[in-house]
Amino acid sequence: MNYEVRSASSIIGSFKVPGDKSISHRALIFSSLANGESEIRGISTGGDVNSTMNCLSQLGVEIERQDGTVKVHGKGKLSYSFPKLILDAGNSGTTMRLLTGILAGQKFESTITGDETLRRRPMQRIVEPLSQMGANIVPSYNMTAPLKIFPAENLHGIKYELPLPSAQVKSAILLAGMFAEGETTVVEPVESRDHTERMLKLTKVKTPSGFETRISCDYVVEPMEYDVAGDISSAAFFLAAAAILPNSSVTAIGVTLNPTRTGFLDVLVMMGARVEIENIREAAGEPIADVTVSNSELNGVEISGGMIPRLIDELPIIGVMAAFAKGETIVHDAHDLRRKESDRIVAVVDNLEAMGAEVSELDDGFIVNGTGNLVGAEIDSYKDHRVAMAFTVAGLAAKGTTVIKNAEWAKISFPEFFEILDKLVIRS
Ligand code: S3P
Repeated sequence: MNYEVRSASSIIGSFKVPGDKSISHRALIFSSLANGESEIRGISTGGDVNSTMNCLSQLGVEIERQDGTVKVHGKGKLSYSFPKLILDAGNSGTTMRLLTGILAGQKFESTITGDETLRRRPMQRIVEPLSQMGANIVPSYNMTAPLKIFPAENLHGIKYELPLPSAQVKSAILLAGMFAEGETTVVEPVESRDHTERMLKLTKVKTPSGFETRISCDYVVEPMEYDVAGDISSAAFFLAAAAILPNSSVTAIGVTLNPTRTGFLDVLVMMGARVEIENIREAAGEPIADVTVSNSELNGVEISGGMIPRLIDELPIIGVMAAFAKGETIVHDAHDLRRKESDRIVAVVDNLEAMGAEVSELDDGFIVNGTGNLVGAEIDSYKDHRVAMAFTVAGLAAKGTTVIKNAEWAKISFPEFFEILDKLVIRS
């Protein structure tokens, strides 16, 4: 589907985004390992979380879905059954990497694959630590999916220092650790999102080498009731639109304020946007709040180092905001952005260039010299949900009409995106 975006004069109102994608995957997966019934309310409606649900069903987990509520009838961590079909993680890296951690500890053989994009993404980052634990995983050419996972003789705990910050890799190792003899420790020099640790109530210790999280084979997952926090990575598109469009102000209701996820809000403040946080409360062990962003003059900023994992998924929309900020915005230390659903450095640079922005590509990021002027263009979404949504926002603030090719990829994380946008946007 091609989506035509016309310039907007402003964006106003309040909105609710669906449940956070990272939390939703984990709520499903952890519930499937518990002994008893779990209830997950406000789960993500996106295609990625559906992929997790489908894989778990293939593994014999009983799941009932009714509107926004999902009931998972978990039967304990050794209750999965041999999947008759190849497991299909679709476009979802989180599904593939987290489930591989669990499948490595099962007594049956399985194969997990994904769509064309996911089959290009690097899997060495999980195959290597899981193999060190004794897992028997055979990847395809170039360490990619499909991954064939054979039963291991026995898994044993390791201490593993993550070479790059990744919550998916950390979670895969910790999940495998539930099936491994002894203790498994993951050390993160730079902290990545900590939903796994929070939801499993694992203790994280700060040491001179970073953050250490431990798990062992006697770990028992308890059934739970989850109220999934709103996804700040989805809300970010509307919050960014309010920051750049004149006379704008929008409120995202009940989004996660987990400090490992709020780098985007810090960048808004650094750029000079007006950000108000109200009604702080808790949902399933996560702080949540209502976040209002209003338009004001934006300035360029530098984003690097430990900030990157806290806003990794928001970098495409930050690239768009940078085109409307005074001066230069530099993003570096974000090499892993090339390994997401698309090469997001190329996607941001090429699309901004097509819209007339002053932008240059770095090996590990990009530089945007904000001019405040973008012109409508034909945008390649690179079949990447976050690129499709980021450049829809760019189209609202650009002169003329912008066409987003393959805009339907937004459904991977946020099927309601275009509908909510229509309600908030004001055109004169
Ligand atoms: C995710 C972790 C991040 C993020 C992805 C979701 C998760 O990936 O980009 O959208 O749910 O654990 P990495 O772990 O590869 O950094």
